[in-house]
Amino acid sequence: MKVTFLKRGFLQRLFGIPATPRPPDPLAWRFENGRITIDRKRAPELARPGGALRLEGGGLPVRVLVIHGEDGAFHAFQNRCSHIGHRRLDPVPGTHTVQCCSVGRSTYTYAGRKIHGPPTGPVPVYPVAVEEERLVVSLR
Ligand code: FES
Repeated sequence: MKVTFLKRGFLQRLFGIPATPRPPDPLAWRFENGRITIDRKRAPELARPGGALRLEGGGLPVRVLVIHGEDGAFHAFQNRCSHIGHRRLDPVPGTHTVQCCSVGRSTYTYAGRKIHGPPTGPVPVYPVAVEEERLVVSLR
């Protein structure tokens, strides 16, 4: 699988500033009973392949990155690089991968397997169900 590095500035990488935004609409998602429900009408960032949102707070036990993959499917990852652990991930266009926003640029497949970066493990991935106008991510 091809590894390409997302174009980010040195300071962005040094401070671990991710490229992926949080949803501007606070009603775009909610978390209850171990499931994240995303209202697709309120989350236009996920409308097209390559789009992504990072979900944090709101009672979530972990940060989550949700992407509309370039394979056409939706994917969800624990948004925590397995190297050191506190840095976030972003999708990399044209590669079917997500990548750490930090200097080490750990890169993972859509299945969470690491294919580049310091020798640490995979990132957890979560199933995403498409239910009409909603996406449901199960963290259980
Ligand atoms: S923290 Fe992600 S590569 Fe180092």
